[in-house]
Amino acid sequence: MYNQARTEPDKALPDRPTPGPGSLKLLFSIPRIQRNPLMYLLDCTQQYGDVVHFKAGDQDAFFINSPTAIKHVLQDNHRNYTKDTIQYHQLATVAGRGLLTSDGEIWLSHRRLMQPAFHPRQIEAMASTISAATQDMLAGWCDRLPGLMDIDAEMLRLTLRIAGLTLFSIDLNHETSRLTRAILTALDHIVYRASNFLALPDHIPTPRNRRFQAALRTLDQTVSQLIETRRKMRDRPDDLLSALLNAVDTETGQQLDNRAIRDEVLTLLIAGHETTASALTWAWHLLATHPEAQEALRREIAQVVGSRAPQYADLSQLIYCRQVLEETLRLYPPAWLITRRAAQADQLDGHAVPAGAIVIISPYTIQRHPAHWIEPDRFKPERFSPNRTDQSWPRFAYIPFGAGPRICIGQNFGIIEAMLILASVAQQYWFEPAPTQAAISIAPLVTLRPNVKGRHGLQLRALPRLASSAH
Ligand code: HEM
Repeated sequence: MYNQARTEPDKALPDRPTPGPGSLKLLFSIPRIQRNPLMYLLDCTQQYGDVVHFKAGDQDAFFINSPTAIKHVLQDNHRNYTKDTIQYHQLATVAGRGLLTSDGEIWLSHRRLMQPAFHPRQIEAMASTISAATQDMLAGWCDRLPGLMDIDAEMLRLTLRIAGLTLFSIDLNHETSRLTRAILTALDHIVYRASNFLALPDHIPTPRNRRFQAALRTLDQTVSQLIETRRKMRDRPDDLLSALLNAVDTETGQQLDNRAIRDEVLTLLIAGHETTASALTWAWHLLATHPEAQEALRREIAQVVGSRAPQYADLSQLIYCRQVLEETLRLYPPAWLITRRAAQADQLDGHAVPAGAIVIISPYTIQRHPAHWIEPDRFKPERFSPNRTDQSWPRFAYIPFGAGPRICIGQNFGIIEAMLILASVAQQYWFEPAPTQAAISIAPLVTLRPNVKGRHGLQLRALPRLASSAH
């Protein structure tokens, strides 16, 4: 499967050792890594440079934080880099072998099957559904606001409902709270398992394991029901689920079995909502703490859209709105970790990488790399202005959606969805930090999630536009 990989013969490999913490130091760092892997990676790259070597037992791992090495792994020599890593094995225990976790021929045939559903024309057609679901959410806010709200929970519910409606023609409206809880429980558990070597196996009925199994059952039942109902329909809607059900392998003439369809549906529900919700939550946090940016966004919406609901056709003119989103995805890339395994020996920026080594890439660290970004930690949406002259960055220093053939299939969908939601909500509400808000930290789980005093979620004060006309 990977015989087309371009690899260098061993004798061509340089013999200078790649800097890194060494096995013993790594061992002593385990509690720090468990507490905050993101900060550990940032510290490592500051201390050792753009290619860092870790050795745990027999396993070599390389953390790469340079655009050239990232380009090599994700694009130029991508066939040599598989998803045979703990990260994707853990995800597979929830989402199965869907597009996100599979490799090789299966991945390619499923990607080809699903790609048409993400064609710009299809996404344009989905935009009215996205807008309607957002307006529906806003109508529900009227009775509750002004006041404090958990914007993270609101964004999760909205994006899950949108994923159900647009991809599978199903309205999960009354189930979004239950399902987002199940998804978060399942994802939190796999992060716990991946980072705790002493975690008891899933079949042992600890309270944590039981919660995980219950969450999996909830997700499985929902998806099985969805598939069964659709199979019985005479007139099936023209959506991604029908495409999966109708697909026939051109060589074998076989259709996808229930398990394969379940895996793809669950993959899309999970990958398609938590990431976008995370981006939106961080965007609201940044806007609430940068009122001048929030004001600029509202001015643009007023000029371009006026008081009617924002639509797909407005998006090309909502330049600042897009910049806010791009800058949010730079500072808080929801998918903060990308891992691969080298099938055969290779070189990364001149460092020898043996066959079987794990390669770690973090959009978070490369997108805050001081060599590529001016004032890397500052929220400056204008750096993405189409007219900017003051700075540019290498293409592979900005990878919120990954890159190469495994680039996010939902990139355009996610951008359009997030922009429509940003514009629709900012048109009607002004956000301020919660008055008693403690410091917000970043919890690097499957996606980057806001964390206040050990609790996930983000409380903001939302003021209806009329009540906040002073701004
Ligand atoms: C802001 C929103 C999003 C972000 C930041 C994001 C990020 C990413 C990243 C970084 C990858 C590459 C992972 C890797 O190379 O290992 C990826 C892959 C993927 N994403 Fe997204 N994503 C977003 C939205 C979506 C949406 C809306 C969908 C579906 C509706 C989606 C479905 C997928 C799938 C199926 C893959 C695997 C693609 C493949 O390997 O062929 N994502 N995403």
